[in-house]
Formats: sequence, C-alpha cells, structure tokens
Amino acid sequence: MKFNIPADSPVRRPEFIYGVATAAFQVEGAIHEDGRVDSIWDTFCAEPGRVLNGDNGEPACDHYHLWEQDLDMMKSLGVEAYRLSIAWPRVMSAPGQVNEAGLAFYERLIDGLIERGIKPVVTLYHWDLPQYLEDKGGWLNRETAYEFAHYAEVTVGRLGDKVTHWATFNEPFCSAFLGYQIGVHAPGYQEPAWAFQAAHTILLAHGLALPKMRTGAPGSQHGIVLNFTPSYPASDSEADRAAAKREDRVEVHWFISALLQGRYPEGYFAEYPERKPVIMPGDMELISQPVDFMGVNFYTRHVVRDNNGTSEHLPQEGAEHTHIGWEVYPQALTDLLVDLNKTYPNLPPLYITENGMAGDDHVVDGQVNDEQRVRYYERHIAATGEAIRQGVDVRGYFAWSLMDNFEWAFGYSQRFGLVYVDYATQERIIKASGHAYARWIETCREEAEASA
Ligand code: FCB
Repeated sequence: MKFNIPADSPVRRPEFIYGVATAAFQVEGAIHEDGRVDSIWDTFCAEPGRVLNGDNGEPACDHYHLWEQDLDMMKSLGVEAYRLSIAWPRVMSAPGQVNEAGLAFYERLIDGLIERGIKPVVTLYHWDLPQYLEDKGGWLNRETAYEFAHYAEVTVGRLGDKVTHWATFNEPFCSAFLGYQIGVHAPGYQEPAWAFQAAHTILLAHGLALPKMRTGAPGSQHGIVLNFTPSYPASDSEADRAAAKREDRVEVHWFISALLQGRYPEGYFAEYPERKPVIMPGDMELISQPVDFMGVNFYTRHVVRDNNGTSEHLPQEGAEHTHIGWEVYPQALTDLLVDLNKTYPNLPPLYITENGMAGDDHVVDGQVNDEQRVRYYERHIAATGEAIRQGVDVRGYFAWSLMDNFEWAFGYSQRFGLVYVDYATQERIIKASGHAYARWIETCREEAEASA
C-alpha cells in the first residue's frame, strides 16, 4: 500500500520534514527506575475508575530499556525527525534537586538520534507534572510556573543545541481543560474556573521558560505545541454558526490568541466573570513573546448546534470514524491552517506535530493490515499540502505515533502506532501504515535527489 498524493503537492518538497512522535509517560515504562519520582499520571492511574482496565505507565513500550532498538527501527523507517518528550519527574527529584541519572538517559537518547541522522524535537512538558508539585497546588499555584522555568533551564542548559526544536508544552488545552474542567485527565478535577487558572499558569510557565531556553540553546528553534479541534455548524442558521464560534473560542483560539496577541478571546470573561484567572501585570507580555515555531496537533473536528445558548456536539452518523470514535475529516486540517494564517498575521512557521488515528489493529500471520490508517495519513498529509499551497508556512509533519502506547484514560486499549506493540513480549511489528509512511518518505527523497 502506498500514499497517493498529488504530484505537485508542496509536501513532496525536500525541505519538508517527516517525523514520528511519542511522549515520555506513554512509551517509557520504568517508572521507578534511576530516581524517577511520581507524576500526577502515576497518581491518577492508581485511582480506581480513572483509567480503563486500571492500566498505568508500566510496562508501556519499555522504551526506557529498548530505546536503542527503537531508534534503529526509526532509522529503518527513514524518518527525518523524532519528537519525544522529557519526563520532568526523571529530571527533578524535588524542587531545586537535579537527578543526574534522568538527564543522562535523555542525553544518551538524543546522542543516539544524532548518530543515526535523526533530528531531535523535544517537548519539555507532555502532561507528567511531578506529584510533589501537585501536592502544593499544581497548575493552580503560580509557583509551579517558576519551577517549570527552572526545570527548563536545567534541561535545555544540558542538552542545548543538540535539539533542533524545543517546545515548552504539549497541548496546554488538555492539561487545563481535560485535567481541571472535564476531569478525564490528571489531576481529574471538575472545576471550570480552575481550568482557566491552570491554563494561565501554564502559559506563564511557557513565558518564564522561553528566555532561559534561548540562553541554553541559542542555535535551536523554540516554540510550543497546541491542539485544535475546530467546530463546524450543524446548519447554516445564525444560532448554529454562533454555537460553533463559541466552541472555537476555547478549542481553537484560547492559547494561540494569548501567545500571538497577548489577550484571551474577546468577551469570554464578560460572559463568565467567575472564570477569570489571576493575571498579574506583565503576564500577558511574558506569554506573548515571539516564538520561532508552533506545533499543531490535529485529529478531528466537531459538528455543533445551538441548544438554547449552549453548544451541543452532534455525532456524524454515517461518516467515517476511528476506533476511538473520532470522525475522520481531513478537510478540517486544511481549513484550520488557512484560518489560523488569516486570523494571526504574526503566525510563526508551523509543524504538524501530531496527527494519526486509533485502529482496532490485530496481528494476522505476523502482519498488521491497517488500511484505514494508510488512507488517514495519505489524506491528512495531502490536506497539509493543500494548506501550504494556499499560503500557510508548514514545514513538517509528525505521525502520532511511532508505536502503540499508553493512551491516557483509554489505557492500552487504543492503538495509534505505525508500529504494533505486543505489550506482553515487547515485540514490535511494523504495520502496513508504517511501511507506507517509510515508502512515502523514500519517494520524496528520491524525487528531491532526481531534481537536484
Ligand atoms: C494527543 C496527545 C498525545 C496522544 C494523542 C492521541 O492529545 O498529545 O499524547 O495521546 O492525543
């Protein structure tokens, strides 16, 4: 199986980068090794009913031990970049206390990537807040932002320019809103006002860390990774269109508007004054310092209708869905990118830092024939190319994920990998989509060489 993508698509250009992504807690395992302390996700997993089947960060993909073999596998796929995250609870054992063994692991990993000609793209926070900070209020406590800046300074200071792209946060939307409003992610609260406070503290942490990161790695690009789930109105009625706009305020614009315009979406706190976080003088300036790039994580869209002033999500019967229940709608990726480019004149260069799908994957005769995923990747990479054609500066694409892993509240029940993981034996099997992705990268490389 291979991708059919238009011959003139800009995603075939040699400078467009293809990578794969993972995150520390989802793949590493070894949660008690070499001085790692608990994170909020260890605590959350241990609370009955929070994570499907009571799954937790063990064994995950045992990547902490199998990393060399995993890096070889990436090289065999021909990927040009690897987006990974660093576990704060491996690096800082307590406030102000650096754990050398934790830093050494990431240094080996990054050196291993460089040796194999793969660019390291690193996120500092992919949701694993040290529990010792949660015990002091977590993201509701302003002090946590300063702790993050210190952790960033230590880590970036050590690994520096070896990392081509440093991102402060992955999907602050999920940390804040899934963690503090919906309650399906750690720390699992259901307090809307807390979500907005957490969101603000996270953005402040980003702003405090950035200058320290620039000092530690003057040759790297520095940015942040956001997720976007755009809403489409269920009908043309003014009420439904307004409902979609209301959803977009938080699910599309909340973070990017603070980062690029130094303000939260217009009118929101007039409607919900009780949700306004504590914003100190100077905060919005720190938050809106220029970044070198932004990561866009995209999976699906919502269709919404108005229900007496609230926005109701409408399931799309008959549309294609993935195993986790998300609608497949690649056009939304083009629309989103074009829309962001129009709305934010100072939009930095973008990377699609995550895109992919969960499948009901099975090994049959030693193979995983995940045809739906092959088509998903093909269509979303083409959709990215279409946005570039319409003038958006997108420089690369990262498949989520290199391999099946711990899918948060869904535990190990949802497989997002290009590579299948047998959790009992830790065997890896490259799926049809992994072969198709490798072949596509190879095709782009051959075309580039032929035209050089
Ligand atoms: C994103 C997360 C990533 C993964 C995918 C499926 O929200 O950043 O860790 O779980 O969803």
